[in-house]
Amino acid sequence: MTTSEPSVLKQFPPMGIYEVLFSFLDSAGTYLGNPGTHPWAQGYPLTTQLPNGPEIPGQVSFEAADLKYPPATGIDDLLAALRDYYNDFHGASITTDNIAVFAGGRPGIFAALALMDPEIPILIEETEYTPYHDILRLLERTVVMVASNPENGFRPSLADYEAAAGGTPGFVIKSNPCNPTGITWSGEELQALVDFCAAPGRGAIIDEAYEFFHAPAPVSAMAHIRDIDATNLFVVGAATKGLQVPGMRTGWVVAAKRNIEMFRNYSSFAMGGVARASQLYVAALLEPARVARAREAVVAYYASQRRVYGEAFRALGIELFTGEGGFYHWGRLPNGLGAGELNDRLYRHKAAILPGPLCDMYRRGEDGPHRDFFRFSFGAQLEEDFQGNMEILESCLKG
Ligand SMILES: Cc1ncc(COP(=O)(O)O)c(C=O)c1O
Repeated sequence: MTTSEPSVLKQFPPMGIYEVLFSFLDSAGTYLGNPGTHPWAQGYPLTTQLPNGPEIPGQVSFEAADLKYPPATGIDDLLAALRDYYNDFHGASITTDNIAVFAGGRPGIFAALALMDPEIPILIEETEYTPYHDILRLLERTVVMVASNPENGFRPSLADYEAAAGGTPGFVIKSNPCNPTGITWSGEELQALVDFCAAPGRGAIIDEAYEFFHAPAPVSAMAHIRDIDATNLFVVGAATKGLQVPGMRTGWVVAAKRNIEMFRNYSSFAMGGVARASQLYVAALLEPARVARAREAVVAYYASQRRVYGEAFRALGIELFTGEGGFYHWGRLPNGLGAGELNDRLYRHKAAILPGPLCDMYRRGEDGPHRDFFRFSFGAQLEEDFQGNMEILESCLKG
């Protein structure tokens, strides 16, 4: 019998959402997301045409030259389309030298955090996007928490950030709209956050994966940054949600030119660029008239779904804390029911939610304040799924 060597790799579990996928597979015998399942745990949008939305192309064409290695920070077509998008829709004044393309939003976030001076403390809200926790732990970063819990309605203010920073340097990471809560900083509040993060010794990753999903209209920090070259701000976007193409694995970071140069160097030794076919496909999705229509269709469809599910959830006694962005509801289950217990019941109906403790950046598990919170994704739900979904949820809340 041969004995295997212990692994040389650091051991760490999969990102929280995958924990649910694996436990669902064990219990239900099929993958969450397969036909016949109800993937309320997952964070993907519909990948089909929305009412009044533009067509989603079924093809991409390329030539022999497109089979060469891509440029390190992105192909010209996509960089120009992104520059025009931010300048036209958000009044920014960036050039293509302010943008680096990655294979999705997470790789851009990971690169920024991995390349950052490890001494800088990271300010993060207590309730945030699950993988931030994994990345920060893997990179052994010092984390300073900003309260975001039932006591403050998951709505920390700039004063909470100032108190957490305590006048010392610090780097913010924040999803806006927030995953899981959907709470979105906009207008003067977003301006004040941008100014705070643009101050000397500070910086931020503002993660706008759900930019299109805010009602009544998308918001972006790019509308509030006067001179990005003078800052350590990193605004992250992706084709994953708003453009409805998670499988294209295309995301980007907008930042100061000197920081984009570091991403170029990183790409040259660690990534080798992003598939040209994906970049060509996404560049076409950003054609100005098309993207204008896509934004409107996404806002309208998902605002309607947010309202319809919101009313039904309240009628079931769920206490909702959801904001006006994203494609999730974030709420507290009635009668002290734990989210883990709810999932055990839902698995029998081939359904699953994301249990609140996986959004707890302290990872206090079942003992923490997120025990009876859950995130329900209506991202991939068709209008006609509503009735059946509610029947399953109602029966599982009862027992
Ligand atoms: C807050 C947030 N940021 C970024 C992403 C980007 O994901 P991807 O790496 O799939 O583009 C997601 C997707 O779930 C997200 O929820």
